[in-house]
Amino acid sequence: MSEQNRSSEVLLKVQEKYFPPEEIVKRAWIKDYEKLYAESIRDRESFWAKVAEELHWFRKWDKVLEWNFPYAKWFVGGKTNITYNCLDRHVQNGRRNKVAYIYLDEDNNERKITYGELLELVCRIANGLKSLGLKKGDRVSIYMPNTIEAVATMLACARIGVIHSVVFAGFSEGALRTRIEDAKAKVVFTATYTKRRGKKVELLPTVKKAIEGLDFVEKVVVWDRDSEGIKEGEKFVDFYELVKTSKPYCEPEEMDAEDPLFILYTSGTTGKPKGVLHTTGGYMVQTYFTSKVVFDLHEDDIYWCTADIGWITGHSYIVYGILANGVTSLLVEGAPDYPDPGRWWSYVEKYRVNVFYTAPTAIRMFMRYGEEWPAKYDLSSLRILGSVGEPINPEAWHWYYKHIGGERCVIVDTWWQTETGSHMITTVPSYPAKPGKAGKPMFTVEVDVVDKDGNPLPPNTVGFLVIKTPWPSMLRTCWGEPERYEKYWKTIEGVYFAGDLASIDEEGYVMILGRADDVINVAGHRIGTMEVESALVDHPSVAEAAVIGKPHEVKGESIKAFVILRKGVEPSEKLVEELKDHVKKVLGPIAVPEEIEFVEKLPKTRSGKIMRRVLKAKELGLDVGDVSTLED
Ligand code: WTA
Repeated sequence: MSEQNRSSEVLLKVQEKYFPPEEIVKRAWIKDYEKLYAESIRDRESFWAKVAEELHWFRKWDKVLEWNFPYAKWFVGGKTNITYNCLDRHVQNGRRNKVAYIYLDEDNNERKITYGELLELVCRIANGLKSLGLKKGDRVSIYMPNTIEAVATMLACARIGVIHSVVFAGFSEGALRTRIEDAKAKVVFTATYTKRRGKKVELLPTVKKAIEGLDFVEKVVVWDRDSEGIKEGEKFVDFYELVKTSKPYCEPEEMDAEDPLFILYTSGTTGKPKGVLHTTGGYMVQTYFTSKVVFDLHEDDIYWCTADIGWITGHSYIVYGILANGVTSLLVEGAPDYPDPGRWWSYVEKYRVNVFYTAPTAIRMFMRYGEEWPAKYDLSSLRILGSVGEPINPEAWHWYYKHIGGERCVIVDTWWQTETGSHMITTVPSYPAKPGKAGKPMFTVEVDVVDKDGNPLPPNTVGFLVIKTPWPSMLRTCWGEPERYEKYWKTIEGVYFAGDLASIDEEGYVMILGRADDVINVAGHRIGTMEVESALVDHPSVAEAAVIGKPHEVKGESIKAFVILRKGVEPSEKLVEELKDHVKKVLGPIAVPEEIEFVEKLPKTRSGKIMRRVLKAKELGLDVGDVSTLED
């Protein structure tokens, strides 16, 4: 109850409206959101058919939607290839020499690649994949830094119908192994290293450990960044050798609209990460459309999404949706504040960035460094600022608006998930925004906030966020685990359960309050409590562990672990460090608990389930609520 009271206080504070500047409204693709939204709800299928017609299909669909609850098929019978729409279509229509990406590393080394050159690189890798024996439906894991080589590898897979599974290069060997194993990847792509804060972070040794004993992994393709020579043996192939020895053109595979495009693993409440599966047609259409209208992309725009291709934001809004619009993007490797906190702003000035998309955690970090850093640079090219990954608190919103946007820009706070594939709730640039509220549902999307039985709640009441109808870029299943997919639609019967807490105000603006489940959002990264607990229990000194998320000023949430040690093991500071190191080794730096507390006992239900809710309430000094199921 007390959490609800706190949220209503917050609600009152976020009612002010920010109207977009006239110049932004004038050039916006969407001028009349409300009218178009109402139309889209009346006829969702015609709406998406019209959007799909802007793209290229080898064969047109017979039917827009086949909804066989909870399974959806979009653009049934349609044949297309997403890389054809992202590359060939532009190359054939005057954008061959237009820059697709401006890549930058921490030393400001710049590499530009045009649409024509990118198509050739993608084709060469695709032919290379074929020469390694890969065919449509096979899986490839990509464990690479945020670079042109990584983007081109994703596209090369899509070119020939190979399903890619990108694994964030910040994950460690355990997390990588789980993902390679689950997808049964025949080939793994990697680089010798990535660079962060001026230091090399080795990737190849992690891959070598991760694939030990996994016989189904036939080849590892390595981008040898310093041309040191790959001396690891027969299983290992040199990336640029493969590129050089392959032909420069590869026919795009005619993909069925419902053929799988990629798997992306994400954390859930229970068990190992789920392999969220996206398919070709619907994902292509909706990422293309949302990129265009939410970022209001026009021919000459310079766009920059600061995410990493290891996450869904990178997939949809660095690669597929953005390339489908044929604009020029920045692609940046390394830390935002290295060598100094001016790095990002210097790029905005130098490349005259118009649309900038980042996460609240980054904004809060820059708030700490102080406004003098952005003030050193000319940020006047910016027009649209995006936010994603976690709720943006009104303070951060205002700072972003004032110190980055110069009070001239529009902020779009986009709520969506790995599972949704594309933006679900946000305002469009021509529509007023409310700081701290994501905004309104996107076209054809119908959302609600309900109680645990599915009853709609009155305005400004906190409940569970649900999506009521299918949308083109929705996940189709969880790889190999259809029951986990069905759970999204059966937790509250008949609607998609997002796992977030939210409220809707009288004007229909949705405010997201955070996760309703045991997922922790650390700096915009989803981490399952279970994953961290398993990593801890995997250490020989640990008998049991429970993990919760705690509010954190910069990261949104941080991880706290409660640990019961095995008999005879003494708690110590040294052991705390050892356990942190262990989690880092198994999962990666982002999953390391900030705090570890040794305890004698954990609150459990009579059936033995850890009550994290009780731990969290106690930790935060809140009412522990109903504890009638507590063991003792
Ligand atoms: C959270 C990232 C508030 C939310 C695209 C969701 C947000 C989870 C927002 C998905 C936002 C994402 N405001 N919360 N604008 N965007 N979230 O799968 O809790 O990595 O369920 O996708 O991030 O995280 P995921």
